[in-house]
Amino acid sequence: MPMVGLGTYQGRDDEMRRVLKWALESGYRHIDTAAVYQNEAEIGDVLHEWLSSGCIAREELFVVTKMPAIANRAGDVGRFLQKSLAKLRLSYVDLYLIHIPVGMKANSDDDDRPFDSQGNCLLDFDTDLEGVYKALEEQVDAGKAKAIGLSNFNSKQIERIFKVCRIKPANLQVEVHVYHQQKALREVCRDFGISICAYSPLGAPYTVKGSDEYPILLQHPVVTSLAKRLGRTPAQVLLRFLIQNQMPVIPRSTNQERVKENFQLFDFELSKEDMASLEALDRKGDGRIYDFKEIFKGIEKHPEWTFRIPY
Ligand code: A2P
Repeated sequence: MPMVGLGTYQGRDDEMRRVLKWALESGYRHIDTAAVYQNEAEIGDVLHEWLSSGCIAREELFVVTKMPAIANRAGDVGRFLQKSLAKLRLSYVDLYLIHIPVGMKANSDDDDRPFDSQGNCLLDFDTDLEGVYKALEEQVDAGKAKAIGLSNFNSKQIERIFKVCRIKPANLQVEVHVYHQQKALREVCRDFGISICAYSPLGAPYTVKGSDEYPILLQHPVVTSLAKRLGRTPAQVLLRFLIQNQMPVIPRSTNQERVKENFQLFDFELSKEDMASLEALDRKGDGRIYDFKEIFKGIEKHPEWTFRIPY
């Protein structure tokens, strides 16, 4: 798994196509998407162009997509992966992740959003995570996914998967950034031999409001002064911190210069002291941005809601 991937959450239409072209031109080979991002078809168009013109070989690419929560039933896994592959115009993905451990239901046959007319999340309380994971293993057997893994799972859920799995989850994708360093979960994953991919590695600068005590990460004085001393940007410092902690990162941007900048992380290094100064900014659980309660109203009622325990 290349250490820098292109994040594509909220990327749509022609903008998505443009951003992916810039990313491939800048050297990105790892692309992260998900069925719910609704951009697999745009990504598929660009990949097809690059692959069919011989600009790139399939083996050079590392394409990750994620199974939507409405597919969290063993019998649905194969069908949903096939849908993603058709949109991506690929015969296999390099990594297929269960996007979230909570099972949901589609609104209707024509509307696959998991919400009722009041905006409440339609939960499937019968989620059988172990069964779902076994169905993912069958997709590896069928050659449709080179590797499989988890996203937004907690340590207990990971442990349960390890008890039943035949093919180890290769990767866990979770929120990790300097304010939310996930040290406890990282230790659990290290023991199991699972790599962690960091989403929102810049601390979601447009989602959070900064305060005097906790400024937006990209503007934190420790980060900006390090960046100034090293002749780098704050984003590069934040991303490099995660890479030096052995975590692949998937920053997203709609701006060509920033797409490029986020890939230029391999010609400088943070010293032990620099790493320690960033490590000291960890806010632990308080630094978490996403618990999904806002996006999925009522999600905390589901028995598999991730954040019932601290990690
Ligand atoms: P933009 O598209 O204007 O570049 P996260 O993945 O943590 O949620 O952060 C994503 C946001 O961070 C994007 O909206 C993006 O905005 C912004 N961003 C991405 N790269 C950089 C960068 N190098 N410097 C500043 N902001 C960035």
